[in-house]
Amino acid sequence: MRPLRVLVTGAPGMLATALRERLGREHLTAMTSRRDLDITDSAAVRAMLSAFRPDTVINCAAMSNVDACERDPETARRINGEAPGLLAALCAEHDAELIHISTDYVFEGTKGAPYVEDDPVQPVNHYGESKLRGEEAVASAVARHKILRVSMLYGVARTNFADFVASCIEQGKPVKAVIDNAGSPTHCPDIAEQIAALLGRPETGIFHCAGLGGCSRLEFAEHIRALWPAPGLVIEPVRQADFPHMLAKRPENTSLECRRLREAGILRIKPWRDALADYLADRGRRARGPH
Ligand SMILES: NC(=O)c1ccc[n+]([C@@H]2O[C@H](COP(=O)([O-])OP(=O)(O)OC[C@H]3O[C@@H](n4cnc5c(N)ncnc54)[C@H](OP(=O)(O)O)[C@@H]3O)[C@@H](O)[C@H]2O)c1
Repeated sequence: MRPLRVLVTGAPGMLATALRERLGREHLTAMTSRRDLDITDSAAVRAMLSAFRPDTVINCAAMSNVDACERDPETARRINGEAPGLLAALCAEHDAELIHISTDYVFEGTKGAPYVEDDPVQPVNHYGESKLRGEEAVASAVARHKILRVSMLYGVARTNFADFVASCIEQGKPVKAVIDNAGSPTHCPDIAEQIAALLGRPETGIFHCAGLGGCSRLEFAEHIRALWPAPGLVIEPVRQADFPHMLAKRPENTSLECRRLREAGILRIKPWRDALADYLADRGRRARGPH
């Protein structure tokens, strides 16, 4: 495949960081932070697309803090709901493909089995609502789009739940982990690998793109404890209601099944337990530093 011109928004976020590492090896990649390119600013987006002339735009920019979206739904709607539509319309004008990142939180979480791409959506908080608006805006504005729903991300760019649990083990602190919020934990480099495999392919529409299988936060913490070289973590199972400071209600179980990727024969995502083992091994190597 010839190298593509790929524009990524939302650097230095967690997913964009993994994309820089993976796509930068094969493609001409322009990474843009909010300061370089605010996706709510249509003039700035137009100028960037005219100057860089991307084959593909990957939109990782988002207001991703679920409680912040609950506190300020207007801003969430602007960044997560409206701006992706604007980006999509300008991609259509410039004949660029748009890969837009969405979320498992478009679902209500009560299905009792992993969600597939065409299951009915019903967000339970403002974050999910705003991201759903973003999906709809993208789908109606540009024919050449792929919407990737991801879930429970972790990666090196910022502290995440895996790091939190690992640091509690290191410091001998107990962890409270909820049993009534489950998803499909996804290592960002796996999504980057999946996107590399999707670039240039003709399929359009929604794809679930998340760690294979699913678990609650409690099971996730328990698996980190099981992988840890020395025993010692105390995990206290709790419920969301035990965290009254959390503004947004989280859906109970939004595990995703990557049905379309599997059926197309291009699934690159690992089972969540294997990916978590990779991440913790890598974290250990980073902590020890170069020899
Ligand atoms: N993290 C998860 O567990 C999770 C789960 C499901 C879906 N997702 C989705 O996956 C995608 C990537 O998530 P992530 O965790 O990598 O996000 P992240 O680490 O929070 O990074 C998002 C980036 O977007 C930037 N941004 C915010 N508003 C912007 C704007 N108006 N213009 C340009 N950039 C802007 C942020 O900059 P500032 O720091 O300046 O705000 C940040 O650098 C998002 O679409 C998110 O909704 C994430």
